[in-house]
Amino acid sequence: MSRIAVVPGSFDPVTLGHLDVIERAAGLFDELHVVVVHNPGKTALLPIAQRVSLIQESIREAGLPASILVTSWSVGLLVDYCTDVGAIALVKGIRSQIDVAYETPMAIVNRDLAGVETVFLLPDPAHAHVSSSLVRQVAALGGDVAPYVTPAVARYLQSPRD
Ligand code: PNS
Repeated sequence: MSRIAVVPGSFDPVTLGHLDVIERAAGLFDELHVVVVHNPGKTALLPIAQRVSLIQESIREAGLPASILVTSWSVGLLVDYCTDVGAIALVKGIRSQIDVAYETPMAIVNRDLAGVETVFLLPDPAHAHVSSSLVRQVAALGGDVAPYVTPAVARYLQSPRD
């Protein structure tokens, strides 16, 4: 039976730190789903469909396995998605103790709700300071986001929009 894992997140936008975690997770599981989830605690910059296509393009540009499935989930609990597709684990990247504090209660609740375990992966320390919110801020103020994202995301953020 194939072991399926889900990498969930806002991905607003996807960063090189996210891609590092996605690549590491792809090496650990038979099947990987990257799932864009609306986080009601955050004000989003990019529409969800745009986030999905930027992840797909970034996976291609970064040479990650084409078998990685990218989708979104907006109906009900994230663990409902996991149950629907038969995923046994959620995968989260941990940059610092702040991430541990934020992720631990969600991991325990997700296990209580549906028996889905959460696997924490440490990204390359080179990406420890990278976050979507910093990328959004640098882009909004006209800075160069190229060190933090794939060319596809940099092109999108630096192209004129309404
Ligand atoms: O990239 P983010 O914003 O840190 O991702 C957080 C996210 C979207 C993964 C988190 O908010 C989440 O898991 N949302 C799903 C809603 C849910 O199922 N909540 C109940 C159990 S924690």
